[in-house]
Amino acid sequence: MPDANQQPLISVENLSIQFRTSEGLVTAVDNVSFDIQAGEVLGLVGESGSGKSVTAKALMLLNAENAVYGEHSRITVNTGADTIDVLSLQRPQDRMQIRGGLISMIFQEPMASFAPAMSVGSQMVEQLLLHTTMTKAEAREHSIDMLNRVGISDASKRFKQYAFEFSGGMRQRAMIAMALSTKPRLLIADEPTTALDVTIQAHVIDLMLDLVEEFKMGILFITHDLGVIAQTADRVAVMYLGNLLETGPVRPVIRTPSHPYTRGLLNALPRLDDLDAPLTPIPGDIPSPLERPGGCVFHTRCSQAIAGQCNSVAPAVVEVQPDHRVACVLRDPAGGRV
Ligand SMILES: Nc1ncnc2c1ncn2[C@@H]1O[C@H](COP(=O)(O)OP(=O)(O)OP(=O)(O)O)[C@@H](O)[C@H]1O
Ligand code: SF4
Ligand SMILES: [Mg+2]
Repeated sequence: MPDANQQPLISVENLSIQFRTSEGLVTAVDNVSFDIQAGEVLGLVGESGSGKSVTAKALMLLNAENAVYGEHSRITVNTGADTIDVLSLQRPQDRMQIRGGLISMIFQEPMASFAPAMSVGSQMVEQLLLHTTMTKAEAREHSIDMLNRVGISDASKRFKQYAFEFSGGMRQRAMIAMALSTKPRLLIADEPTTALDVTIQAHVIDLMLDLVEEFKMGILFITHDLGVIAQTADRVAVMYLGNLLETGPVRPVIRTPSHPYTRGLLNALPRLDDLDAPLTPIPGDIPSPLERPGGCVFHTRCSQAIAGQCNSVAPAVVEVQPDHRVACVLRDPAGGRV
């Protein structure tokens, strides 16, 4: 659990990201702000294309070259000793400090994280030599220990193998071992378990949470799956077309969602306690980022949209409960319709 009195481990303020494309500038992230404390798991949910991965990659400066960051965007990492202004890091050696050092990322497709022509062990050792003061022998021992910790049997033999020789679940575990081996301050897990079957998924999530608790790191956990968020996260942020529509402690957000979009996501979930209950998907499709709706970005799909208002005025972000924020005119006392 996070320590509320501490400085946030990472602060994201007014993050806006556009991409230069042949069709013009496309907005992927629009004025997003959130903090993550040490020991805290922040879940980031939203439908496909909502900007979750682009937000996560910004924290490690991993977005493609055509990304343009808004001038008021700020990402600050607190190392304990000092603060790092991530978006101002220009030199490759400064960027390496955050990539795989202070921050590690687990990707949806583990194959993408391993170089095909290098053994898993060599890659783990290489990363440790880059980010720690370990000798090669220590790095080797630590890597084998980490592979053991994530439940890979015969770790010293597996250490010498290539990622393609591992099963899907084992590769995912090896990636978690590699991501955690440098003891990053922040772990970004981008859909880390979607490719796995549910039993392995549950195991991998448990394992990640145990290690995070032990190392007291923060986690940004990205998923489509609100069920997984309910079990893993301390806080949740709900994203739609690059905007955060609702953020707050996980229980109130899931039990008493305030934003029509969050309610829509929850109503669309299958209910195991009532198999006859009809599924109610959110009507309509996500608009193309090239045709971002004005006003409230959700108004084209919102059954409660107020004609003449929601399509023209962007709703203010309102704190409905301590630390529970919502961007909807229906929750805004100043909007006159609480
Ligand atoms: N390099 C790029 N150039 C142009 N557009 C991009 C680029 N990278 C991402 N985008 C766009 O940014 C938007 C957000 O993408 P992002 O990958 O963050 O979505 P996501 O929420 O992670 O979706 P998913 O759940 O499918 O992973 C999308 O419209 C995507 O096409
Ligand atoms: S601001 Fe309007 S359109 Fe947006 S979620 Fe609220 S009611 Fe719906
Ligand atoms: Mg993604």
